[in-house]
Amino acid sequence: MKIVKSLPTLVVIILLAIFSEAKPISSILSETESTPGTLDVFGKGNLSTAYFNVRTTSPPRPLLVVTPNVSGTYPVVLFLHGTYLLNSFYTDLLQHLSSHGYIVVAPQLWDLILPSGPEELEYAVKVANWLPLHLTSVLPKNVEANLEKIALAGHSRGGKTAFALALGYSKIASQVKFSAVIGVDPVAGASKESRTEPKILNYVPGSFNLTIPVAVIGTGLGDQPKFWPMPACAPQGVNHVEFFLESRPPSGHFVTTDYGHMDMLNDHLDGVIGTVAEALCKNGKGPKDPMRRTIGGIVVAFLKAYFEADADEYATILEDPSVAPVTLDAVHQFAGPPNHPQPQVNFNYIDGSTEL
Ligand SMILES: *[C@@H]1O[C@H](CO)[C@@H](O)[C@H](O)[C@H]1NC(C)=O
Ligand SMILES: *[C@@H]1O[C@H](CO)[C@@H](O)[C@H](O)[C@H]1NC(C)=O
Ligand SMILES: *[C@@H]1O[C@H](CO)[C@@H](O)[C@H](O)[C@H]1NC(C)=O
Repeated sequence: MKIVKSLPTLVVIILLAIFSEAKPISSILSETESTPGTLDVFGKGNLSTAYFNVRTTSPPRPLLVVTPNVSGTYPVVLFLHGTYLLNSFYTDLLQHLSSHGYIVVAPQLWDLILPSGPEELEYAVKVANWLPLHLTSVLPKNVEANLEKIALAGHSRGGKTAFALALGYSKIASQVKFSAVIGVDPVAGASKESRTEPKILNYVPGSFNLTIPVAVIGTGLGDQPKFWPMPACAPQGVNHVEFFLESRPPSGHFVTTDYGHMDMLNDHLDGVIGTVAEALCKNGKGPKDPMRRTIGGIVVAFLKAYFEADADEYATILEDPSVAPVTLDAVHQFAGPPNHPQPQVNFNYIDGSTEL
């Protein structure tokens, strides 16, 4: 393990955070007004949720668990946070998912020491392997996890780790099966030449050897720097575009045109890390709530399609992306019926295909 990879980088980041302009009050106020999307998945689900931290020595990393607090059996989403971020920054997004009937387990993958990519991957697989024996014991009474349906999801570097885990790059074998993978603005490094280990991008379309459904949600501003000479947070060549191209059907691709790499986090982020997270990447001008509901809604619709064979809402989003609370560009689908992936990859994008 290495202490914060380069201290000078961190100092620069913190200085940038301090000197970058504060958010004007007017934009904070406008965040309370938001127009609901036109599909149920874009609004809060009807299940009340509970969230809590699990800090016993038993899980390999501290966990944030967000779960429906209504008796029932629910699929599981293992959610991996982004580079140097905290799992607590995602509670709004994760509660959105949970309120629609998902148990979300979000490990904190670092504390004072930043793990390397391979170390982070081993932590992630250890958390996955912790689930079968221990998850039930931390859930509310009468709430059960359906471990036959586990989705891997992650943001930024966590998105890449989710793909790496699904692709079987971990040294420790996964004892659970993953049934879907979701990349939320996934990033595989600083550039094509400078990728984080393990290097999973091959620059060959359809080369991810996965037979499970994939959803990739990118951000329109992620490949633009906050200001010169800052690097972009999700640079071309290592971002969502490449992750989607290397995926096989069935897979979907969505891009939130006017929003940036960090715009799905909670509105107000605590501490120095929060300040840094808010200062580092180009942000959209609009409030974050519709962005979170768009990403939450796409994920819920995708999981309903492939976990519950209820594809109506997912098909609607693909057909008419304007149903989402924020503008979606570049909505693509490699078609394939749920659970019947098509092995041949057709690289003519199918725009708004309804062939689910
Ligand atoms: C939530 O909505 C679903 C379908 O819309 C329904 O089947 C379920 O009973 C509802 N649950 C609660 C707790 O209201
Ligand atoms: C969960 O539900 C139970 C029973 O309805 C309630 O007592 C408890 O306070 C709820 N927990 C949370 C965190 O809302
Ligand atoms: C792809 O994965 C399957 C099992 O998931 C495996 O049998 C096959 O050998 C893999 N193909 C390649 C080219 O790695």
